[in-house]
Amino acid sequence: MPVYRPPLIPSSEITPRSVYLRRREFLGAAAGSALALQASGARAEKLTTVESTYRVDEPTTSREDITSYNNFYEFGLDKSDPARLSGDFKPRPWTVTVDGMVAKPGRFDLDALTKEFPIESRTYRMRCVEAWSMVIPWDGFPLAALLDKVEPLGSAKYVAFETIVRPEEMPGQKGLFQSLEWPYVEGLRLDEARHPLTLLAVGLYGETLPNQNGAPLRLVVPWKYGFKGIKSIVRISLTDTQPKTTWQSANAQEYGFYANVNPEVDHPRWSQASERRIGESGFFGSGRRKTLPFNGYADEVAGLYSGLDLRANY
Ligand code: MTE
Repeated sequence: MPVYRPPLIPSSEITPRSVYLRRREFLGAAAGSALALQASGARAEKLTTVESTYRVDEPTTSREDITSYNNFYEFGLDKSDPARLSGDFKPRPWTVTVDGMVAKPGRFDLDALTKEFPIESRTYRMRCVEAWSMVIPWDGFPLAALLDKVEPLGSAKYVAFETIVRPEEMPGQKGLFQSLEWPYVEGLRLDEARHPLTLLAVGLYGETLPNQNGAPLRLVVPWKYGFKGIKSIVRISLTDTQPKTTWQSANAQEYGFYANVNPEVDHPRWSQASERRIGESGFFGSGRRKTLPFNGYADEVAGLYSGLDLRANY
């Protein structure tokens, strides 16, 4: 059966329309998530965190915006669907399997991991391929800490990630339409995965992750477009071949493996030169700003790509 490929909405079209739409979402999602929480009994829990030097000197996006404007196709295609439709999802208990080309593979209980690794609060600029951005106060631990624990073999070159498949709790995985192939999968080169900026997030704003943001464990790679940030991760596998990624499989012309934020390489259907900061658009300003190479993290990460043609390797 052919896979239906939902178009990502070109930013040129959504800017004015989204201002209107978001008013409705704001109210709808607030009511929706209150109901969802009631239905599942899920509760945000306070996290014990340590401060990190990784912070952006820009205002953080509101919790309301971060938790009501989401891409999480397992719960539907609309930005407001994940907040409305993720109430039945159960993020506990949770284990993550780490296997493949490692000396010490294992299946780890997430609560044990968050006791073992200090949870850092870090504020990152996040940039979506749809040309909008947010500043998000994540809580998590470096992916490198978990990779060190399993001891990657010298032959390992890539890290593959996989989201849980639970159609009974994720309405977008059954439904009448097939939006993407499940499980959602992603990948990084091992050196990108080990970079100190690469985070496994377990919370935001000092509390456990809401379901719509990828509870209980999701990837955050702030110099890449948001779609690399795979949510609700159950498996991390080390390999020597470049892993398959969901968006590349869905549409290789539009989405590459690297997905580094590059304002000079336009998406085939829209410009990547600027972005709309969520929460700043509206009456008093456009909220539009220039997009920075590597989303502002060039000093930290540009060296990872020396010798690589970033126009060809988008
Ligand atoms: N992970 C899964 N499993 N399913 C998804 O649909 N969407 C991606 C990414 N991770 C997605 C996913 C996309 S397109 C984006 S922009 C980010 O999650 C959005 O994360 P946020 O909702 O926390 O901002």
